[in-house]
This record gives sequence, C-alpha cells and structure tokens, in this order.
Amino acid sequence: MSDTGLPARRAALTALTAVEEDGAWSNLAVPAAVGDLASDQDRSFASHLAYDTLRWEGMLDWALGEVLSRPLTDVEPSLRRVLRLGALQLLRTGVPPRAAVDTCVSLAREQVPAGRAKGAGGFVNGVLRALGRRVESLPWPDVEQDPVANLARTTGHPRWMVTDLHRRFGTDRARAILTADNEPPGLTLRATGDRDALIAELQDLDLAATPGASAVAVRARGGDPRRLDAVRDGRAVPQDEASMRVVEAAEVRPGARVLDLCAGPGGKATYLAALAGPTGTVVAVEQHPHRARLIEEAAARQGVDIEVRVGDATVPVDDPGGFDVVLLDAPCTGLGTGRRRPEVRWRRTPSDVNDLSVLQRRLLDAAVAAVRPGGRLVYAVCTWTVAETDDVARWCDDAHGGALTPVDRRQLWPDTDDTDGMYIAVWDRSDQDAGPAVTPGG
Ligand SMILES: C[S@@+](CC[C@H](N)C(=O)[O-])C[C@H]1O[C@@H](n2cnc3c(N)ncnc32)[C@H](O)[C@@H]1O
Repeated sequence: MSDTGLPARRAALTALTAVEEDGAWSNLAVPAAVGDLASDQDRSFASHLAYDTLRWEGMLDWALGEVLSRPLTDVEPSLRRVLRLGALQLLRTGVPPRAAVDTCVSLAREQVPAGRAKGAGGFVNGVLRALGRRVESLPWPDVEQDPVANLARTTGHPRWMVTDLHRRFGTDRARAILTADNEPPGLTLRATGDRDALIAELQDLDLAATPGASAVAVRARGGDPRRLDAVRDGRAVPQDEASMRVVEAAEVRPGARVLDLCAGPGGKATYLAALAGPTGTVVAVEQHPHRARLIEEAAARQGVDIEVRVGDATVPVDDPGGFDVVLLDAPCTGLGTGRRRPEVRWRRTPSDVNDLSVLQRRLLDAAVAAVRPGGRLVYAVCTWTVAETDDVARWCDDAHGGALTPVDRRQLWPDTDDTDGMYIAVWDRSDQDAGPAVTPGG
C-alpha cells in the first residue's frame, strides 16, 4: 500500500460521494474511483472501505450519534462521509486508530475551502477520537429484549427490512439472510462460448475460476470485470447466477419468438437471444433510451440479434400471434442485489415497495397479453418483499387464472442459494385463449 494509505482512502471517499451525491450505484462507482490507484493492494483496500462504509452506514451513524453533541444530519454531507469512513475503520477494521483518525483529518481538510480546513480537521479529529474511546462501551441492543434492533445494528440494515424478515423467518434465519447480504459475492460470469476455455483463461490470470451451478456459469475471485479481455470482447458477461436461472426458467428453444419486457441493460435479453439462436427472434422493450442502447451494444459484443424497442412495457405489444416466451424482469426495490450494491438498503423505503407493486401488476398484465396460447410467462424481480413477489404472483393467478397455469415459483436467497435474492414465477398459457386480460392496474 502507498506510504500513508491516503490515496486509497481518498478514492473510497470519491466513491462514497458519487453514490450519495450523484445517485451512482457502488458496483460502478467503486471500480471507477479505485481504478487509478497504484497497486492491487491499494485498490482492494479502497474498495473494501467504500463498500463496507455503505453496508454499515446505519450502524456507523448510530455509533457516531453516541459521541456527537448535535445530530449527524446537521453535519455537512462531505464531513459526514469522512466521519463514516473513519468510524468504519475504528469499528470494523484492524486499522490502527491513529492511522484511521489522522488520514480522516487530512481528508476532512480537503473537503472544505482553505479557510475552514483547520476547523473541519479539528472537528473530525475530536469526534473520531471520542468514538475511539467508546468502541468497547457502545450500548448494543440486547438480542433477547429487542431482536429487531439488535439485528439492525449488528448486521447494518434498516429497521423496516429487518422487521419484515424477522416477522417471516425469526431471529436466526433473518440473521443468516442479512449476514449473507453483507458478503461480497465474488465474480460470476456467464460464458457465451466455450466455458472450459474461459475457466482456463481466468485461472491463468490467477482468478481461481471454477464452474458455477448453471451450465454456462463461472465463479471467480472478485475484482473489476471490465478489466478482463473476455468481458471486453463478449466471451463472458458479468451476471449473477440468479439472473441465469431466470432465463433458464423460460426454457427457450432454438427458433423461439421471445419478448423481453423491461430489458435494459440486456443481461437476460442476450442470454435469451443466445438460446433462441439465429432462427429465433428476441424483441426487447426498454423505456429508457440509454439503457436500450446498452442492450444493442451488449448484443453486438456477444454476436446475437435482438430487436430493441424503446417504449413503455405497460402498453401491450402489438403482435397478433403472440410470443412463445415472455419474460418480465420488472423494476423492483432491488433488495436482493445488496451484496453488490449495499446502498440499495438505504435508498429504498416501504412506500417504494407499494408503488412498485402497483407498477409490477400493470406490467404483468401487458406481459400476459403478449403470450401466445401454449406459451410461457416468466415474472422476475430481484427482491424479496412479499408485496413484490408472492402477492403479485397470486394477484396474477386470480386475474388470469383461466388462461394461466402456475408452473414454478421460488425465491432465491443469498444465504441458501449463494445468489442474488431473486424471485421467479413461471406460468404456462393454456392452449385455448380464456378471453381478454383484466384492466391494467385492476
Ligand atoms: C430490473 S431492470 C431489467 C434488467 C434486465 N432484464 C437485465 O437482465 O439486464 C428493469 C428495467 O426496466 C426498465 N423499465 C422500468 N419501467 C419500465 C416500463 N414501464 N417500460 C419499459 N421498461 C421499463 C428500467 O429502465 C430497467 O432498465
């Protein structure tokens, strides 16, 4: 590592700023911020600091609140981020306290105009030294008396998420899920060609590559996948195995006509296109033009054909024959992606769950209408709230019960499946049409 460790910490702070100020996702912001650091060791340390500061934000804020004389929300955001970075080092790393505090003082001085540098440095110094003295005597909530508060603090998750999991599964399983949600997932790739050759190539790079559970999956040690030639030239696609399972649940055959609703940036659309082959058709609908462009770029890189349409997927696709397979990978709270972008837990609120579950029903209505008699429908969301998963699937059963037969329904979990927390529901449409779909949103 560099002499003082300051460049690595500065890069971590840059990533935290991008996440908080620009709404960037950490799985993109962190690799971008650490990419220019001098050594692997610096990059790895900076990534660890940035991701863990995001993971443990709630616990860090609580601990800082124990030593601050005013609410943390009153501290200006740039200094609040420095305090969190410092608190993380004091509470959850083996970094010597003096190094943690001194580097944070330097960073604090850089965050403000020169005339305020001394004051900002002194403030951060005082708060972090006070926290250093309290590390052993913080009032952690007792697990017996208040299991939800204990889980929230000790696993670093918001109370509403913990309450939901605790109510459904009890303390031990909730802790297992939340703990797994804090584990960096390593790198999972989908091989678009010869998987064995890809594994050998990654092993030559010392990335400890092994086959995953899916026939096209490769697991490897973490790192920035964009640095890999295989990813740059489309022989490998960074993709969680849960996403591969969504596509595999569709059972696409060569020559199939496939509709992918809500398709950007195209991770699943390109896999669908590979399975449908050159005689098949994949139509991908995406609302946001820049995300639609990402589908086109991914298809070009991987050498597959996709007809990309920019549009609103709640509007039924005009296609009289219907599609053999319709995938709806709906917008959702994304809580199941927490291993890769831990800030999702702080960005989402219970009201998002409600709003999204309404949109998911409207999208699903349009998806049902596009499946040909005898065809297959797959609904997926990368989350685990009941409102966005089983409730939506049950609503679909009720609304379209005459036309659809449930085939499969499962929730993948980071603790038991070692994947993103993805929900997958599959229906087959009966051969005879059972009449018009219900009104969207009904
Ligand atoms: C979960 S992501 C899809 C990920 C994608 N299937 C993949 O595997 O790469 C949901 C996508 O739906 C898009 N979206 C949201 N609302 C939409 C709508 N009403 N119509 C079409 N696309 C929509 C979002 O822009 C986002 O790209």
